[in-house]
Amino acid sequence: MDANLAHIIKSMPKAELHMHIEGSLEPELIFALAERNKVSLAYDSVEALRAAYAFTDLQSFLDIYYAGASVLLTEQDFYDMTAAYLARAKADHVRHTELFFDPQTHTARGVPMATVINGIHRACQEAEGISATLILCFLRHLSEEDAFATLEQALPLRDKFIGIGLDSSERGHPPEKFARVFARCKELGLHLVAHAGEEGPPAYITTALDLLQVERIDHGVRCLEDAALTERLAHEKMPLTVCPLSNIKLRVFDKMSEHNLLHLLDAGLVVTINSDDPAYFGGYMNDNFVATFDALPLTREHAKQLAKNSFDAAFLDSATKEKYLDELDAYFAAH
Ligand code: ADE
Ligand code: ZN
Repeated sequence: MDANLAHIIKSMPKAELHMHIEGSLEPELIFALAERNKVSLAYDSVEALRAAYAFTDLQSFLDIYYAGASVLLTEQDFYDMTAAYLARAKADHVRHTELFFDPQTHTARGVPMATVINGIHRACQEAEGISATLILCFLRHLSEEDAFATLEQALPLRDKFIGIGLDSSERGHPPEKFARVFARCKELGLHLVAHAGEEGPPAYITTALDLLQVERIDHGVRCLEDAALTERLAHEKMPLTVCPLSNIKLRVFDKMSEHNLLHLLDAGLVVTINSDDPAYFGGYMNDNFVATFDALPLTREHAKQLAKNSFDAAFLDSATKEKYLDELDAYFAAH
């Protein structure tokens, strides 16, 4: 890639809208927290843990990801994890981020909901030079009843999260399984998003739109298998939070040169680039931009479009959005 374009994609202002905070736990921090909390791990060194990050599909990743999250026990642990990610994102010129968290992974181990939310939220509040809000994700391999119970536990902390998402094992757990709990969350005024069309079929994207009434689709890359759906997503300006390095590590595409991100852009879709689980997939925001721009014939105009899409798709009030979009315009006028 041209050195000037490489500089632009790294230093332009951007928003990150698809990042699981538990997926930012680096092996070094996992070991440090395991020691602090006297939790035993199945790996005896940082290197052995990192060596296990050879995934064959989504489930093979999730098994290791949930094991890694087991070192998180205290509010300080959640704070430290989040503060580390925010510092890293800020270095990549991420101006705003909307963080996913998986409370059921923690409450199932006896960690109180307030410990999880307060620790993550305090780090977001204290961060300087980057704004961050929270999206509570339901684990789709668990029941809708469990999701309702999780929502009840989180409601006393309602002012500390802005939305609801749906993640974990996609295949066999279609969006309609969570239609009632999403309807309740909509009544509560929460923003709604869901993972769909990562490993699962395009039909899951359609049902996430129709039955869950989501405002963004997380991943969504398989939409291109359905021309009518692709046209609908373009017409509705439905944002897709695409995660290129994740898609390669989890074998959604064999290699980056085969990733369909440019086809998604050419189809007129509101595509954004995100890191998903940066500690597990080999890179944070700028690593994702560099890997994608290195492998595909993307231009300076695409870079600006991707950054603009990230602010357009963010759950921000219009004045704040305008402020970031003005900063982006000024950046491109100067570069
Ligand atoms: N949880 C963390 N990362 C995920 C992904 N890429 N898909 C589904 N669930 C996840
Ligand atoms: Zn994800």
